[in-house]
Amino acid sequence: MYERVRGLLAAPPAEPDTSAGYLDLLGPSDEPAPTPAQRVMQSAFLPHIYERVWRPVGFNLAKGWPAGPDTAEENELARSWLALGRPADPRKPDATVLDVACGPGNVTRALAEGVGPGGLVVGLDASRTMLARAVAEPAPATVGYVRGNAVTLPFADDAFDAVCCFGGLYLFDDPWSALDHMTRVLKPGGRIAVLTSRRPNLPLLGTGTELAGRLTGLRVFGDRELAAALEDRGFRQIRHRRLPLMQFVGGRLG
Ligand SMILES: C[S@@+](CC[C@H](N)C(=O)[O-])C[C@H]1O[C@@H](n2cnc3c(N)ncnc32)[C@H](O)[C@@H]1O
Repeated sequence: MYERVRGLLAAPPAEPDTSAGYLDLLGPSDEPAPTPAQRVMQSAFLPHIYERVWRPVGFNLAKGWPAGPDTAEENELARSWLALGRPADPRKPDATVLDVACGPGNVTRALAEGVGPGGLVVGLDASRTMLARAVAEPAPATVGYVRGNAVTLPFADDAFDAVCCFGGLYLFDDPWSALDHMTRVLKPGGRIAVLTSRRPNLPLLGTGTELAGRLTGLRVFGDRELAAALEDRGFRQIRHRRLPLMQFVGGRLG
């Protein structure tokens, strides 16, 4: 598995550190900026409640529960927008997929359900505690994890057929650099799917969301901001689904 992941790196390390169950590529100087939100993501406690409590409650509210998509629908949307297969499909593509800001691997495992036995899904995150949780969960042999910085992705150009980034972009200190890298590592014709924050169009709620974001270090994106950023980077067939405080944006490269 890690031989395959190493094959995707721009500069594979001579002595790879896989002692924690994931490939650790982050030295102390490469750690992402420690905003309040980042500190929460690095904590020992959050990964234990993230998948069953924190994410369903927080994300579902932000997505407009009960009207917005639940986690199962979200996973289906990710597989569909990334041109992966359905879990029960016997002819799923052997795609190479990157899950940026994978946290405890919840989306990574859902993506793996959409690739065939020759595929590979790589989850990348900067948090040791999140990755410790990810590698503790049962996952198929097509899944591997890397500790790295999303803002300067360590993979070679054109390495992936699809890139997913759910619940991460608003945490990055430079989301535009992260998008540049996600574009760079995608093959021509590759697909991207992003789930991130959205500034509501109601003036008072919009300002409140913006303020809350500043206090916590979370960036709040405008309605056209990400679709335009993808277009600028050469994506076409742009998809956009607006939810009350979140948005899905996707496209095909070239
Ligand atoms: C809210 S979790 C998202 C997990 C999962 N993708 C989901 O949709 O539920 C956000 C993750 O982003 C990671 N993260 C934040 N900034 C990062 C960076 N610069 N590089 C890599 N991971 C980062 C955090 O460690 C955290 O695990």
